[in-house]
Amino acid sequence: MCGIVACVGREDSLEIILDGLKKLEYRGYDSAGVAIFSDDKVKVVKTRGKIANLRKKVAEQPLSGNCGIGHTRWATHGSPSTLNAHPHQYEQVTIVHNGIIENYAKIKANLEEQGNKFVSETDSEILAHLVQANLLQGKTPVQSLQNSLALLEGTWAVALLIEEQPHKIWCALNQSPLVLGKGRNGTYASSDLTAVLPYTREMIFPEDGDICELSSDSIKIIDKDGNQAERAPQIIDWNPVVAEKAGFKHFMLKEIHEQPRSVTDTFRGKIDRENFTVKLPELDLDFSSIGNIYLVACGTSYYAALIGKFLIERLARIPVYTDIGSEFRYRQPLIKQGDLLVSISQSGETADTLAAVKEAQKRGAKAVSISNVLNSQIPRISQFQLYTHAGPEIGVASTKAFTAQITALLLFALKLAQNRGTLQRKFREELIQEILALPSLMHQVVSHASHLNVIARRYGNARDFLYIGRGINYPIALEGALKMKEISYIHAEGYPAGEMKHGPIALIEDGLPTVVIATKNDLYEKIVSNLVEVKSRGGQIIAIASQGDDQIGEIANDLFLLPPTHYLLEPLLTVLPMQLLAYYMAVHKGTDVDQPRNLAKSVTVE
Ligand code: F6R
Repeated sequence: MCGIVACVGREDSLEIILDGLKKLEYRGYDSAGVAIFSDDKVKVVKTRGKIANLRKKVAEQPLSGNCGIGHTRWATHGSPSTLNAHPHQYEQVTIVHNGIIENYAKIKANLEEQGNKFVSETDSEILAHLVQANLLQGKTPVQSLQNSLALLEGTWAVALLIEEQPHKIWCALNQSPLVLGKGRNGTYASSDLTAVLPYTREMIFPEDGDICELSSDSIKIIDKDGNQAERAPQIIDWNPVVAEKAGFKHFMLKEIHEQPRSVTDTFRGKIDRENFTVKLPELDLDFSSIGNIYLVACGTSYYAALIGKFLIERLARIPVYTDIGSEFRYRQPLIKQGDLLVSISQSGETADTLAAVKEAQKRGAKAVSISNVLNSQIPRISQFQLYTHAGPEIGVASTKAFTAQITALLLFALKLAQNRGTLQRKFREELIQEILALPSLMHQVVSHASHLNVIARRYGNARDFLYIGRGINYPIALEGALKMKEISYIHAEGYPAGEMKHGPIALIEDGLPTVVIATKNDLYEKIVSNLVEVKSRGGQIIAIASQGDDQIGEIANDLFLLPPTHYLLEPLLTVLPMQLLAYYMAVHKGTDVDQPRNLAKSVTVE
């Protein structure tokens, strides 16, 4: 996830772009840059770090002009550095890109064979080379973009300047956000309307495949078939603060709704849809000789590890140990050469997880990191890196990073299984089909968020919550309880449902809300018996169940139904109502949802 701002008009564009980029910092902030037409030359200034650094740099290298593009980056290909920062420039062409070009390596290799030289490690730079090649052949800017984009696989929103054509900007999009604005003093493009809202409220939402040509007083759109298209402008009356969160009240709610996209981005380019196999070239490991696998993480990431254990053991039939980061190094772990430590950390900076990786390496094991932040500390010291592509997570309570971690672990488990020959092709095919269908099911679930708001209202005065689940949904019960604790400050416990009779059932008293994950799978009958045990002692049941289950509605006090998916993928759906229930409880209590008390987003101390 990155942020783009572009503008051409009658005012100096630098301040408009810098101000817009600052509003888009939530989309990424590891490096930033701006390109402005100045005396009919395109001048670029870029730097590592946040927009404040870019401001300092442009103060040292002044820029001014009425037409420009800017970018704030969240690295996906190539480390966060000044060289990898956008804009990228090649001869006449200067571009900024948000998205992932899946097949860039092949295109880059072809261009290198033809003698093209690249200065960055990014996937984006190839687009400047492709467009330039087309311009040299006498193609128009629109044709050049059309021809170049036709070669790409992946997602993009791009804005582009061509030196021979001052005072114009071209934009294109495919499955990445882009909004255009038409104001009194010029025209604008941005990844999110917050950046341009101070200048106009008249917005145009172009469609995938459109190519847009912006000049100071007009916006021309060519659709994917090459025809001029009319896209009706919409008048936006949001206030700018609401707009920063894309209309959501909190970043956490926005991030919950982003999950269909971040799961897709995490598996994007990693599934061969013809052969139903998983490609993870970044894990250049001898999978057949791995001894034991240790999954180590903290907090929510640890619950992803528990699901990872389930997936790896089930699919690849290798024993997996799970450890909490802060415990691992103090128990003299038996990890040794030939074993693999897989760390899971959204931030890639968590001190206890980092120390566990070092401990494992000291004992001779190799380390794989699953992280959301490119080149953060843990991936840097690990031998292998598998990145999630959730984009920056601003809400302190982890939501979209968690589902992206489960997705990465699923890919890892499938890759292991594939290389060790533990799965029949038919089963692999079935599972991969279900993975591909999952984002749209996740979308269906979050679109019923308001039902959880109603449920949350009903339990507004509860002082305790109990969460129970079984099998692969047991870690989701733990995660549900953690979410409830950390943002609503309500005491909550998560248990494997079968454990109730060994102690926790003593807690049940009249009215205790108990969230039960009771989806239709092999453990369904068992969990229904556990549920009846709670109900008969006065517990209030909030059941997360499967569509088409007519039995459970008779026992549960409240019901939230999920569409069916493969058992091994259920956590990616069952966690969504957990996140939403905690969210709405916190909203009703009036707590600081995005920055709950006593917590920090990245825990870099032991
Ligand atoms: C809970 C939460 C924390 C983190 C934990 C590990 O919502 O966000 O429990 O999961 O602090 O952080 P990372 O994944 O950055 O290592």
